[in-house]
Amino acid sequence: MTMSINEHGPRGPVNANSGLQPQPVPVAPTDPQALREAFGSYPSGVIAVCGMVQDHPVGMAVSSFTSVSMAPPLVSVCLQTSSRTWPKLRQLPRLGLSVLGEQQGAVCRALAGAEENRFAEVHWETTGEGAVVLPGAVTWYACTLRAELPAGDHTIALLEIDRLWALPSAEPLVFHGSRFRRLDNSDRSAVPA
Ligand SMILES: Cc1cc2nc3c(=O)[nH]c(=O)nc-3n(C[C@H](O)[C@H](O)[C@H](O)COP(=O)(O)O)c2cc1C
Repeated sequence: MTMSINEHGPRGPVNANSGLQPQPVPVAPTDPQALREAFGSYPSGVIAVCGMVQDHPVGMAVSSFTSVSMAPPLVSVCLQTSSRTWPKLRQLPRLGLSVLGEQQGAVCRALAGAEENRFAEVHWETTGEGAVVLPGAVTWYACTLRAELPAGDHTIALLEIDRLWALPSAEPLVFHGSRFRRLDNSDRSAVPA
């Protein structure tokens, strides 16, 4: 089906639904609120990026996790240039990435909150290499930082996976529209490989 997009927004050919479906409307990408809402319309998981710094766990919550490469196994996260935590984490030989489970909304809030209280009520473990991972998460990665790329007010960090612990049947926390959500599992139809 062909579509054209002009200054009035997307316009598709007339069909039975076109009068009923709400369509996206144009907004300025320079409008921070509109841009935040647009980015927030893309659902993601939440990852805790954590490591041991001078015998104490340090970490932060991020939703900008992306799988990047199978061989070598690479993932990326984006960190605000204003982050006070990333400069500490980036120096570590290993970082732990935990994909938060559906019950871990409070963990995410804690790891995005005041630095000194982040682990006050958050359970954690080390992988033995200084990477910190969180029980209750659905996947743990122990990673080595391979590269950083400046990207506007963020830095893209490329991480190589050294070790991996997975529990694919566990339900992840979902972040969408500035809210935590759960998958409802009403449709489990397979996607072609
Ligand atoms: C759901 C959620 C997702 C977040 N995603 C990111 C992210 O992708 N990158 C980032 O730098 N900060 C992200 N943050 C903010 C950080 O968790 C943290 O609050 C922020 O970096 C300030 O703390 P810091 O100075 O210790 O880094 C997110 C926060 C929340 C609640």
